[in-house]
Amino acid sequence: MLYLRRFLNVESMKTITLETQMRVYENREELPVELRELLRHAEEAATRAYAKYSHFQVGAAILMNNGKVVTGANQENAVYPCGLCAERTAAFAASATYPEVPFNMIAITAINPDEPLKEPISPCGSCRQVLFEYEQKFGHPIEVLLAGQEGPIYHIQSVAHLLPYTFHAGFLPR
Ligand code: THU
Repeated sequence: MLYLRRFLNVESMKTITLETQMRVYENREELPVELRELLRHAEEAATRAYAKYSHFQVGAAILMNNGKVVTGANQENAVYPCGLCAERTAAFAASATYPEVPFNMIAITAINPDEPLKEPISPCGSCRQVLFEYEQKFGHPIEVLLAGQEGPIYHIQSVAHLLPYTFHAGFLPR
C-alpha cells in the first residue's frame, strides 16, 4: 500500500502506458467463416488432450500461411512440469512440420468437465513467449482467437499485444 501511494504520487515522473485491444464477438455465429472453421479445429483438438491430472482439456489450431492447419492439445505427465500446453504443442508441431511457413492465426479453446467455460481461455505466459518468437522469426503478426465453450470470443491482432514489453532476441549478445 505504501509502495502504491509512493508510485501514484510522483506526478512529475514520465510514465509509459501499454495498451492492448481485443475485438469481441458475442458468440460463434458472429464469427467470420474462416475464424469459425479454425475454432472448430481447436475444439476438436481439445477432445484429443491428454489431461489425466487436471482434466482440463485445451485445444489449439494454427492456420499456416500455406493454408494448412496444425493442431495441438495439452499433454500431461505424472511429473507435472514435464507436461506441455496445447498452444506450444501446436506451435512446435507447426514449426517442425513447415519450418519456413509463417503462422497466420491461432485459435485456442478448452473443455472444462465440471461446467462449460463461459469465458475465453487465456494463454499462459510461456505460450505467449513461444508464439511471439515465431511472430518475430517471420516478421508476420499471428492473430489470436480465444474462446470458451460458450459466450464471447476474443480476437487479438498480434501476439505482441498479449505480451507487451517482451524479452526478445535483440537483448541477447550477437
Ligand atoms: N493449459 C493449456 O494447455 N493451455 C493454456 O493456455 C492454459 C493451461 C493446460 C496445461 C495443463 O495441462 C492444464 O491446462 C491445466 O493447467
